[in-house]
Amino acid sequence: MKKKIGIIGSGIVGQTLASGFLKYGYKVMIGSRDLTKLADWKSEANEGGAIGSFAEAAQFGEIIVLATKGNVALDALQLAGTENLSNKIIIDTTNPIADTPPENGVLNFFTELNNSLMERLQDAFPKANFVKAFNSIGSTLMVNPDFGTEKPTMFICGNDQKAKDAVAEICELFGFEISDMGTVEAARAIEPLCMLWCIPGFRQNWWNHAFRLLKR
Ligand SMILES: NC(=O)c1ccc[n+]([C@@H]2O[C@H](COP(=O)([O-])OP(=O)(O)OC[C@H]3O[C@@H](n4cnc5c(N)ncnc54)[C@H](OP(=O)(O)O)[C@@H]3O)[C@@H](O)[C@H]2O)c1
Repeated sequence: MKKKIGIIGSGIVGQTLASGFLKYGYKVMIGSRDLTKLADWKSEANEGGAIGSFAEAAQFGEIIVLATKGNVALDALQLAGTENLSNKIIIDTTNPIADTPPENGVLNFFTELNNSLMERLQDAFPKANFVKAFNSIGSTLMVNPDFGTEKPTMFICGNDQKAKDAVAEICELFGFEISDMGTVEAARAIEPLCMLWCIPGFRQNWWNHAFRLLKR
C-alpha cells in the first residue's frame, strides 16, 4: 500500500512532485494558504489530487514534502502544525536563498557554511524526520528526467535511516541514483549545490543539466 503524500507548497516544485506522485498511484494532497493558486494544477489532469491548507495537507500525508520558499519554511511548518508533522518523514526540497539578487549568477544564501536550513528545521521540529532531496535539480527534471542511459545523482541526507530508505525508494522511482551523504549536517554541503546548479541558468540560460557522482 503506497503511503499518502502531503505537500506543503503550491509553487512549481510542489505541483511537479504532486503530479509525479499521482502518476505512480500515490494519494496526494497539496497545500496552500490560497487554494485559487492550485485551480490550474487541479484542472490539468490532476483531478485525483486533493487540495487543502498546509495543516490539512500535513495531516493527510504519511510522508510530507516541504516545498516552500526557504525563508518562510519555518512559518509554513508552523502553519502545518507540529502535531501533524511528528513521527513523519519530511522530504525537504527547500534552499536558503536570500531575497537579495544573485551576484554574477551566484545566489545569495541567508545561512552560513557551518549551518544549514535543514538543521534549523530539524531543531525546530525534533520529532519529524527530515530528509534533504530534490533541492539541487530543476523542477522540469524532478520526475524521470531523460539523460539517455545515464541517471542523475540525488544527494540526500538526514538523521533517520528508515526515513532516508523511504525517500531513496521514491527518488529511484523518479529516475535518480541515490548518494546518501549522512546526517542532517550534510545539508550544509547539499544545499549549496543549488547555487552551483543555478549558475549556468543565470549566466547562459542553461537549465537542463543535473549532477552525477562518478565512482570507481
Ligand atoms: N523552482 C525550482 O526549480 C526548484 C528546484 C529545486 C529546489 N527548489 C526549492 O524548492 C522550494 C520551492 O520552490 P518553488 O519555486 O516551487 O516555490 P516558491 O515560490 O519558492 O515557494 C512557494 C511556496 O512558498 C509559500 N510561501 C510564501 N510565502 C509564505 C509565507 N510568508 N508563509 C508561508 N508560506 C509561504 C507559498 O505559500 P502559498 O501556497 O500559501 O502561497 C508557496 O506554497 C524553494 O525552497 C526552492 O529553493 C526549487
